[in-house]
Amino acid sequence: MPDPHAGHDARPARPFVPAMGQGGPLAFYDAMSLLLGARRAHERLVAAAGLAAGQTVLEIGCGTGNLLLAAARAEPGAAVVGLDPDAGALARARHKTRRLPAIRLEQGYADELPHADGSVDRVVSAFMFHHLPADGKRAMLAEVRRVLAPGGVLAVLDFDGAPRPFGPLTPLLRFAHRRRGHDHGHDHGHGHDAEPLGIVPNDRAVIRELIADAGFDEVAQVDEGRGHAGAWTIQRAVRPRD
Ligand SMILES: C[S@@+](CC[C@H](N)C(=O)[O-])C[C@H]1O[C@@H](n2cnc3c(N)ncnc32)[C@H](O)[C@@H]1O
Repeated sequence: MPDPHAGHDARPARPFVPAMGQGGPLAFYDAMSLLLGARRAHERLVAAAGLAAGQTVLEIGCGTGNLLLAAARAEPGAAVVGLDPDAGALARARHKTRRLPAIRLEQGYADELPHADGSVDRVVSAFMFHHLPADGKRAMLAEVRRVLAPGGVLAVLDFDGAPRPFGPLTPLLRFAHRRRGHDHGHDHGHGHDAEPLGIVPNDRAVIRELIADAGFDEVAQVDEGRGHAGAWTIQRAVRPRD
């Protein structure tokens, strides 16, 4: 039987913004995420998604697997799939989820989901939407609409407004990044210059508008909170039954 935790270990050729921003040490990610209060936000995202036994749940941008663990804890009867382009993050996730055969990991991108049309019941993403440029967000949402079953639910947790994703260390990391010459200042189409760490500020209304434009119904904010990294919201939507 194939190992459900086995993924492809070759790094995909396309660029992406990793969990700690360009060049940040992934080894610190889990500690930082814990300190910044992501665990509670993850639990609220899982609650908002409304998991049930027998469902297939896909997390896009699963990173080191913390939300996957929260989902599997909340609903052990669901098949939980985590997708991320980062082989290093997936290796950490694989290690942390090795005793949970219901969790499967895949290397891939939000805008090219390796799933059949209508094959997924819930799509969740946590603190990954701001890693995408505006056109990448639209492409992700088109793919989410394709893979979700009619009546399936999308729930997106992300920062609202300009985040401080590394808490009080954010200005220091930005400074170090600029010193290393990574400050390219791309404009990703929302009128914002991309932050030097590759972060594109989100806005709750913009997230909702993008989701609605992608053809979802019942687009609504279902939760919000604030942690050391800034304010966040959870936006939820339903794939129409057509
Ligand atoms: C801040 S981390 C969040 C990880 C996890 N969801 C959590 O809450 O701990 C954002 C993740 O999005 C992933 N990511 C970036 N670009 C992506 C893309 N185009 N498709 C899928 N995932 C992507 C990164 O590799 C990173 O692991």
